[in-house]
Amino acid sequence: MQINPNFSRLKESYLFSQVRERTAAYQKAHPEARLITLSIGDVTLPLGASVVAAMHGAADEMAKRETFKGYGPDRYCYGYESLLNALQARYARLGVSLKKEEIFVSDGAKSDCGNLSDLFSAENIALIPDPVYPAYYDANVMAGRKVVFARASAENGFLPMPQEGVRADLVYLCSPNNPTGAAYSKAQLQEWVDYANRTGALILYDAAYEAFVRDKELARSVYQTEGAKECAIEICSFSKTAGFTGVRCGYTVVPEALVRGGARLNRLWKRRQNTKFNGVSYITQTGAAAAFSEEGERDIAERLTYYRENADMISDCLRRLGIPFTGGKNSPYLWVRCPEGESSWDFFERMLSKANVVVMPGSGFGESGEGYFRITAFGRHGDTREACERMEKLLKKG
Ligand code: MLT
Repeated sequence: MQINPNFSRLKESYLFSQVRERTAAYQKAHPEARLITLSIGDVTLPLGASVVAAMHGAADEMAKRETFKGYGPDRYCYGYESLLNALQARYARLGVSLKKEEIFVSDGAKSDCGNLSDLFSAENIALIPDPVYPAYYDANVMAGRKVVFARASAENGFLPMPQEGVRADLVYLCSPNNPTGAAYSKAQLQEWVDYANRTGALILYDAAYEAFVRDKELARSVYQTEGAKECAIEICSFSKTAGFTGVRCGYTVVPEALVRGGARLNRLWKRRQNTKFNGVSYITQTGAAAAFSEEGERDIAERLTYYRENADMISDCLRRLGIPFTGGKNSPYLWVRCPEGESSWDFFERMLSKANVVVMPGSGFGESGEGYFRITAFGRHGDTREACERMEKLLKKG
């Protein structure tokens, strides 16, 4: 038996489990400590009432012979029309017209980000920002692909732009970005799209945080640029808007116009999904569709406001401390410089042991993340306020 040798190129454990393990070990050793966790970007507000009611209704339908449903519709690769109609309408509001056949409902953005790798040969080169959401990097390493990095730093506003002369076949972009919170303007994204169409690269665009965009000039979808349907796949999720981190539902757009290596990627993805995936449950999809109802949209708007208030609270705290940061305005993440040249993991440990606040060490997202930490705005108001007070106490100079 020979296992996939590429696994030996991965770090021993995934960043998020490493953080969870260290946190749990500290809590075990200090059972009296009241830890506040603002590390992993998990939501804290419950599902909206309209989503819950729709899911209850769907469960009742499943209980009756006349309305019971088995596998989802094959025509749309298991996506139910009610959800696909709602997604088409969402894109139409952004000025983007999509066919139902171009939208693939999935169990979340992370799975699709990893699974899309199946479509491409190991010979391709993946261009990945650094720092980056570790799933993109790990998926490409597992596939045996060479990875090159586009460095994101304070100098380029944490928004790397295309570089002529660097060969890249698969380009991963995430905007608003995880972890840095920086977001591309439509004009900047247009440069990436033009680059991909010129060079034949494919953009894998993760829009999981698009709902957090407040500034008008920033992109909500890669398809808001000219020519994106010829070079980009977009991945999105209900996790951070409708609170689906535990329910699991997302969607991926693979335009019919997208051709690479002589193949229509829409057909290839359908082929891949038909073999390895059996769709998202009817109950979940019904809940996701309800997130687009009038009441559902109101619930989402309330949740976004709540998390933005956290982001504002943290931003104010960092400003008072005079610590440079990015994100928070158009993103639920704040990317913060560690004080006094401290390393990311040293700062993580100091915050954990001295303030009992758990943050994300920036170096876990890549080499260029060293000397930074990430803090999430997905916590509860009270916890976020208290975390800010503890952080101020710990880091205030003089
Ligand atoms: C994060 O902390 O980066 C998020 O939880 C990412 C994810 O949604 O997997």
